[in-house]
Amino acid sequence: KKNLVVAIDGYSSCGKSTLAKALAKKLGFIYVDSGAMYRAVTLYFLRNKIDVNDDAKVTDALQHIELNFHSRDYESHITLNGDEVSDEIRLMPVSENVSEVSAHKIVRHEMVKQQQRMGKSKNIVMDGRDIGTTVFPNAPLKFFMTADPKIRAERRFKELESKGNNEVSLEDVFENLAHRDFADTTRKESPLVRAEDAIILDNTNLTQDEQLAFAIEKVSPFL
Ligand code: C5P
Repeated sequence: KKNLVVAIDGYSSCGKSTLAKALAKKLGFIYVDSGAMYRAVTLYFLRNKIDVNDDAKVTDALQHIELNFHSRDYESHITLNGDEVSDEIRLMPVSENVSEVSAHKIVRHEMVKQQQRMGKSKNIVMDGRDIGTTVFPNAPLKFFMTADPKIRAERRFKELESKGNNEVSLEDVFENLAHRDFADTTRKESPLVRAEDAIILDNTNLTQDEQLAFAIEKVSPFL
């Protein structure tokens, strides 16, 4: 039987990774956080002062970046050239620069290639912005997640706060989300758009359990 890829796309901070992790755990699938890859590349560019407007530098840098996922109880952990960077890639310096880096054609090309390799023979749940449209356009099951922007900002703010991040305000988080939504939906290279065959999941008023139940119901015919 052929492997199954479940694609989950949607706006920033609307619970894609929470649902993707829960679904992967329930199904015994591998969870792949594609956003973490763009974030880790962004961190590398920041650390090494790579100018995104310099295509030659970008191409060269990508050859020096090795990303690996380490799944620990379905929490996605990512290493950048062997360094554990899972926490650092969630902080504001990366969040503020990731949309610009991820809009780069050469960066996307390389990440998509790596992502397609991961879904070639394994059962996976992958979340991101272009999974159902570009990475796995033939995935049999696609979700497109959305939620009220204010709710999304509050959720992300609480998450940052719980991790001891007290420097950012709710307004900063809201602005960053709005900026990333705009950048992600209007960029030239595979912009965030709902695949025609993606199932819309607006979770503004849904609990995590309700979202999981909804997703399981949609997946079961494919198992
Ligand atoms: O999912 P997350 O919010 O961590 O992703 C960070 C950023 O990475 C997004 O705002 C988007 O610019 C980029 N991204 C992307 N394509 C993906 C996943 C993430 O362009 N498949």
